[in-house]
Amino acid sequence: MDSTQPTLSLIISGIYPAFKLLTMRINVWIYQAVACVVATILDTGFCKRTHQSLQKYEKSEGHMLVCRDCSQPPLVRGSRSLENCARKCKKVKKNFNCRAFNFQRHDRKCHLLPFDRFTHGVQTQANVNFTLYEKKDYIRECIIGTKDNYRGRRSWTKSNITCQAWSDNNINEHTFSPDRYPTQDLRENFCRNPNNDPGGPWCYTTDPNVRAEECGLPQCSQAVCITCNGEDYRGKMDQTESGKECQRWDSTRPHKHHFQPKKYRQKDLKDNYCRNPDNRLRPWCYTVDPKTPWEYCNISVCDSDSSEDTDVNVTTSCVQGKGTDYRGTMNVTPEGVTCQRWDSQSPHNHSFLPQNFKCK
Ligand SMILES: *[C@@H]1O[C@H](CO)[C@@H](O)[C@H](O)[C@H]1NC(C)=O
Ligand SMILES: *[C@@H]1O[C@H](CO)[C@@H](O)[C@H](O)[C@H]1NC(C)=O
Ligand SMILES: *[C@@H]1O[C@H](CO)[C@@H](O)[C@H](O)[C@H]1NC(C)=O
Ligand SMILES: *[C@@H]1O[C@H](CO)[C@@H](O)[C@H](O)[C@H]1NC(C)=O
Ligand SMILES: *[C@@H]1O[C@H](CO)[C@@H](O)[C@H](O)[C@H]1NC(C)=O
Repeated sequence: MDSTQPTLSLIISGIYPAFKLLTMRINVWIYQAVACVVATILDTGFCKRTHQSLQKYEKSEGHMLVCRDCSQPPLVRGSRSLENCARKCKKVKKNFNCRAFNFQRHDRKCHLLPFDRFTHGVQTQANVNFTLYEKKDYIRECIIGTKDNYRGRRSWTKSNITCQAWSDNNINEHTFSPDRYPTQDLRENFCRNPNNDPGGPWCYTTDPNVRAEECGLPQCSQAVCITCNGEDYRGKMDQTESGKECQRWDSTRPHKHHFQPKKYRQKDLKDNYCRNPDNRLRPWCYTVDPKTPWEYCNISVCDSDSSEDTDVNVTTSCVQGKGTDYRGTMNVTPEGVTCQRWDSQSPHNHSFLPQNFKCK
């Protein structure tokens, strides 16, 4: 007998553990699936899908959108929770495109809205009983990458030619009619990217010599620049430098943290936008990746000059308060010891490197 041929007992002893492992895997998988179904029913947010449904919305507490003369009224639906409501709004239905929702807190009613804050006749009203959640795609005038689902209102190209309405064919003929692409929101003459063009949102132009052109929408990472360490950054970047989605500041999943927006009102910890509430090197955020608690965001730095002299409280000959705005040239301690240069690590090593504290 050929000695490389496995014997029956070898085959069985090899198959059995593999079989056992497989059944174990299946069991684990079934338990997870059951747990997920239960969690979804109870809406405890155990499953990824459930607790991340608010990621793509901008929240305004105590507010609601109302429209007097919109032809399509809101759809009112009962819901188990806020997250559940967000999922209802996410689903694209044939004749109903949900752009935002008013969440009525005491009875958990969802008012799904087929309009946004820029629609003609729409008003944002204060109302303590509601929280407004608006899809970022409809209210953000910057994009992230080129696969962005931009639904904004820019209607001119990068060389400033007015866009042709998608329903028109009279100047430049085309086949991207709104009816053929009902999910692409080909409204009016707004820039869109129905074919996932690598150049980002574009449009057909009203110039017979220029059939179509990109709109040159700014990247969110460049739309608002930062000075110093970006403590004042209030822009709409919501991804980290490695491309991970940011966790909402008002959520503790997947990462628990103490930066609750209500406790740090002046830090503007809005939705899941990159911020720098604690003097790190740059704006950052917690991420939705359970393995990555937080990461810096890649946001462009403003051209220097002007930014450094804007602090009106700078002193040079005396100290005000705790002296954080002192910019003078004293370099000896009260005991007469000469100060070490900040850019030197000897005799004392330290982490207050000038390049990391640009405005200090
Ligand atoms: C909020 O709800 C309460 C009770 O449901 C009601 O009495 C009150 O008028 C509502 N406030 C507004 C501004 O609608
Ligand atoms: C674009 O064109 C409009 C008029 O067509 C003009 O008002 C506007 O200033 C132009 N913008 C730029 C950046 O050239
Ligand atoms: C960071 O942004 C700059 C432009 O703003 C870009 O050139 C660079 O590739 C980005 N880096 C990463 C890691 O995304
Ligand atoms: C200057 O000081 C005043 C009072 O201490 C403070 O309210 C203000 O925010 C300071 N301005 C800046 C730019 O730091
Ligand atoms: C300073 O150097 C020591 C020894 O090399 C090291 O243990 C310590 O972490 C350093 N401290 C800083 C702030 O870099």
